[in-house]
Amino acid sequence: MGMYTKEVMDLFLKPENMGEIEDASAIGKVGNPVCGDIMWVYLKIDEQDIIQDVKVKTFGCVAAIATSSKTTMIIKGMTIKDAYKVTKKQVAEELGGLPKTKMHCSNLAVDAVQRAIQDYLKKTGRSLDELES
Ligand code: FES
Repeated sequence: MGMYTKEVMDLFLKPENMGEIEDASAIGKVGNPVCGDIMWVYLKIDEQDIIQDVKVKTFGCVAAIATSSKTTMIIKGMTIKDAYKVTKKQVAEELGGLPKTKMHCSNLAVDAVQRAIQDYLKKTGRSLDELES
């Protein structure tokens, strides 16, 4: 466990925003076929495009749990446009760094968030371009 920072271990032991949102506006799922870790991100989005609530369900290693929990903490209260731009680097930095192998393997929640937002836009008949402008 010595390879992880204190921030990673703290969040692993007491992860925030774990679980599901029953009436989620959108859901994003990512899996890592190599190690089998998998996570679902649930978003509750209001009419102003603000992420009112976010939960994550993570079946994975220490780093997967810590990065997914940290991602929810970062994006809660953001607009979907801002949340879409959050990077893996930012998540890792806020955890005081990640071991290199874990960066690629486990830092997946940002992808799940982007998938959920894509799903939300599709469902509401909007396009991704508006997030990139
Ligand atoms: Fe691959 Fe955890 S071991 S995401």
